[in-house]
Amino acid sequence: MRSEFILESTVYTKKQLDQVPAAPQVVLTGRSNVGKSSLINCLAGRKGLAKISSTPGKTQSINFYRILPQDYYLADLPGYGYAKVSKEMRRGFGELIEKYLRESVHIKAAGALIDIRLPPQDSDLATVEYLSRLSIALIPILTKADKCTQRERATQQAKWRDILGGVTPVVFSAKTGLGRDVLLAALCRAALGIDPAETENV
Ligand code: GTP
Ligand code: MG
Repeated sequence: MRSEFILESTVYTKKQLDQVPAAPQVVLTGRSNVGKSSLINCLAGRKGLAKISSTPGKTQSINFYRILPQDYYLADLPGYGYAKVSKEMRRGFGELIEKYLRESVHIKAAGALIDIRLPPQDSDLATVEYLSRLSIALIPILTKADKCTQRERATQQAKWRDILGGVTPVVFSAKTGLGRDVLLAALCRAALGIDPAETENV
């Protein structure tokens, strides 16, 4: 499946939340450095679209990518759990993200990115719980799968499936493209309620 990704708006402050597109969107959450921006670039097939950095805390705004021809949005959120940003900044992000997640009526689901190599982190568990309290459907995504063996992947996938009450995470690698097509289909289905293939004849 081919899709075009366009960075359509960037929101830094609560005031700018009126620029959130009035169209179906799936948010991407995850700890800083988990690979949110890399995932967007992989799905888009364009390396430089979302800014990537080995220094955590790179994404400091909510970035809305429009996906065509399916026509929905992915929202790349600033990562959580990064200790080095100032308290002030963290509070700023926190309030912005919270307001967006609580108030946007266009959010259809959250892709929750989780580093496949780590045991379940408190911050990931707290996020999953927070999203569930807001009744936001979850698409769990285990990132950086290229860094572990097939066996480790299966173990982590099963562990998270138990934690999430039977929802099976997508095993993903931005480096190799593992899980890319499955994920694109899941995101489209969550946003629009249809498979991407069905949008090709629209
Ligand atoms: P913030 O914007 O700080 O929240 O981080 P992020 O979640 O957007 O992470 P980003 O995509 O910037 O990636 C962080 C680091 O992980 C970079 O060095 C990437 O190259 C690396 N990385 C991301 N995805 C993968 C992957 O699938 N495999 C491997 N091996 N490295 C990855
Ligand atoms: Mg990022």
